Amino acid sequence: MSNASNQPLDGEVYYPDPSIVANANVRDWEALAKFAHDDLEGFWAQRAEELEWFRRWDKVLDDSNKPFYKWFVGGKTNIVHNALDRHLKTWRKNKLALIWESEDGRDHRTYSYFSVNREVNKWANLIKAMGVQKGDRVTIYLPRIPEIVFAMLACAKIGAVHSVVFAGFSVDALQGRIEDSQSKLVITADGSWVNGKIFELKKIVDEAVKRCPSVENIIVVKRTGHEVNIDPARDHWFHALAALPIASGKCPTEPLDAEDPLYILYTSGSTGKPKAILHTHGGYMVGVYTTLKYVFDIKDEDRWWCTADPGWVTGHSYLVYGPMLNGATSFMFEGGPTYPYPNRWWQCVERYGITILYTAPTAIRGLMRFGEAWPNKHDLSSLRLLGSVGEPINPEAWKWYHRVIGKGRCPIMDTWWQTETGMFMITPTPVVPLKPGSGTRPFFGQEAEILDEQGNPVPDGEEGYLVLKRPWPAMLRTIYGDDERYVRQYWSKYPGKYLAGDSARRDKDGYFWIIGRTDDVIKVSGHRLGTAEIESALVSHPAVAEAAAIGLPHEVKGNAIHAFVLLRAGHTGSLELAEELRQHVSQHLGPIAKPDEIKFVDKLPKTRSGKIMRRVLKARALGLPEGDTTTLEE
Ligand code: WT7
Repeated sequence: MSNASNQPLDGEVYYPDPSIVANANVRDWEALAKFAHDDLEGFWAQRAEELEWFRRWDKVLDDSNKPFYKWFVGGKTNIVHNALDRHLKTWRKNKLALIWESEDGRDHRTYSYFSVNREVNKWANLIKAMGVQKGDRVTIYLPRIPEIVFAMLACAKIGAVHSVVFAGFSVDALQGRIEDSQSKLVITADGSWVNGKIFELKKIVDEAVKRCPSVENIIVVKRTGHEVNIDPARDHWFHALAALPIASGKCPTEPLDAEDPLYILYTSGSTGKPKAILHTHGGYMVGVYTTLKYVFDIKDEDRWWCTADPGWVTGHSYLVYGPMLNGATSFMFEGGPTYPYPNRWWQCVERYGITILYTAPTAIRGLMRFGEAWPNKHDLSSLRLLGSVGEPINPEAWKWYHRVIGKGRCPIMDTWWQTETGMFMITPTPVVPLKPGSGTRPFFGQEAEILDEQGNPVPDGEEGYLVLKRPWPAMLRTIYGDDERYVRQYWSKYPGKYLAGDSARRDKDGYFWIIGRTDDVIKVSGHRLGTAEIESALVSHPAVAEAAAIGLPHEVKGNAIHAFVLLRAGHTGSLELAEELRQHVSQHLGPIAKPDEIKFVDKLPKTRSGKIMRRVLKARALGLPEGDTTTLEE
C-alpha cells in the first residue's frame, strides 16, 4: 500500500498525538488495511465473529449475480439481538444506553439497556397487535424523541421493515413515501417542538393518508399535548395502548436471514421520485458496528453524541444502530444548536460529559458566526474526538471546530458516505494524519477511484467522478421494488463500479477531496433534496407552469435553493407571489425545502428534447461560462 503514515505528506497536515494512537481500537492502520485489501472476506468474517449469530454464515460474500451482492449468506441473526439482547446477558444490562434531553431543557430521560429493551418489547407487541407481520412496511414519522428509537428497533425485532420519514418533511413527501412503501401502519406524534413552536405532525399525517388506502392504523405519541384530530377507528394514542396487557415487556426476537430486509429509507436521486434504499440485517449490522468502533474508537467509558436526526441515514446508522451494536452510551437531543441561545449544544456537552461529538459542517459554520464566547463559557474538556458528515467541510470551519471546540486536542473524523453505502466509506481513523477538508482514504477493504467521462482514471489532482471498486457489507441491496433502476443508477455508467454521484479529486498522497454532487441533488444544510421534488411542489401551485431549481453556494447552508419559475398566462410575478410560492413549497414538501429565492422568467433553457438545463441556469447565476450549449434549443 502506498502513503504509509510515516512518510511526510503534502500540504497542511495534522498528525495524530501518540497518546491517541496508543489507546485506539485500531493502532496499526497500515496492517489492517493490508489484511482487508488482501483478504476482503476474511477481514469482514473476523468482524462478524465479534457479533452473535443464531446460525453461522456459509459464505461471507456471494458475488455470483453482480451487482446484487449478498453478504453472510446462510447466516441467521437479527440486528436487535446484537443491539440489545446480547448486552442483557452482561454487565451492560445496567449501563446507560440512551440519555435524552428535550428542546426546552426541562425534560431529561435516561434508559439503561435493560429499560430500552423493555420499551422496545412493548412497542414490538403493539406493532404486532396492529396486524404487522414479517416483511410488512411501517412508516415512522416522529420527532427526535426516544420513542423513534424504540419504534425502529421494535420493527426490526419482529422482522418488519421500517421506513422512517424525516419529520421536517411535509404532506407530499410523506404521502409519496407511504404510498410507495404500501405501509399498513404509520407511527407519529401529535406534534414536534421546533424552536419553541409546534410543528403539526398529526395534521400532516391526516392529510397525507387521505390518499393512502394501505394505511389501516396510526399510533400517535403524545409529545406537545395540544389538541389533535383522533379518528377512533384508525388512530390510537400510544400511552393508551401501552397500558393494555398486550403491551408486555417481553417479546421474542425474530431469527432472520442475514439478507432479510431491515429498512427502506427514501433518498433523492437525479430525477423523478425519491428512491427507496434497501438495507438488510446481516451486512448492515456488521458494517455499521465495525465502522463506529474503528473510526470513532467507541469504548465503554464514552458518551457518544450524534446530532443527526433519525430521519436520515446518519441517524439510522450512528444514532440508533451503531452505538447500541457497540453497547455504547448515546446522547440524543431533541432540539437544534442555537435555540434558545447559541450555547445550547455546548451546554449539553458539559452537562452530559460528551466525549465524542459527530455533527455536520453546516452546524459548525452556523455556530462559528456567533463567535467563540459561546463555547468558551462551557467546559468542553470531556471531548476527545470530533466528527463531520453530510457535505464537504471547508478548511476554515474544520480549523475552528478543531481549535475552539476540540481545543486542538481532538482529531476530526471527516466521514464521507451516503444513504446508499449505509456506513462510512472514505474516512480517517484517529491514528491517520488529517488534512482539513479531506476525508482521507477509503475504509478498510475499500478502494475508490476518480474517473473521467470514458471511465479512465484521471491523474492525481484532477476532478472526476468518484467510484467505489469493491463491495462492502452495508451496501444497499437494491432500490425497493425497482431492481432495474438500481442497476441503471449505480452500476451502469462504469460497469462493475459503484457510481457515487459525487465529483472528487485525489491528491498525490492518496487523500480524497469531495467537491460535490454531479447529479440533480442539492445538499442544503447537509439535507439531501432533489430538484425534481422541489420543482413538482412548485408546479402544483396554480400560478406555475414550469419551474427549475438549482443550488447556489451559501455561507452557512453549503447550498441554498434558487428556483426559476415560468408563470401560467394571466399571472404576473411579484414579491407577494414569490413569498406565496416559498410558503407553498414549505407546506407541501417541508420547511427544509423552502427556496431562498424565486425568480420569475419567460423562458427556461432546455435541450431540444425538452430537458431543463439546470447547469446553464447555475452558470448564468454565478456569472460563469455556460459550457457546452450545443444541445440547447433555440
Ligand atoms: C452525499 C450523501 C452519509 C451521511 C449523510 C449524507 C455528501 C456526505 C460527506 C463528507 C463531503 C459528503 C456527498 C454524498 N457527503 N458526507 N464527509 N464530505 N461530502 O447522506 O443524504 O445520502 O448524502 O452527501 O455529496 O454523496 P446522504
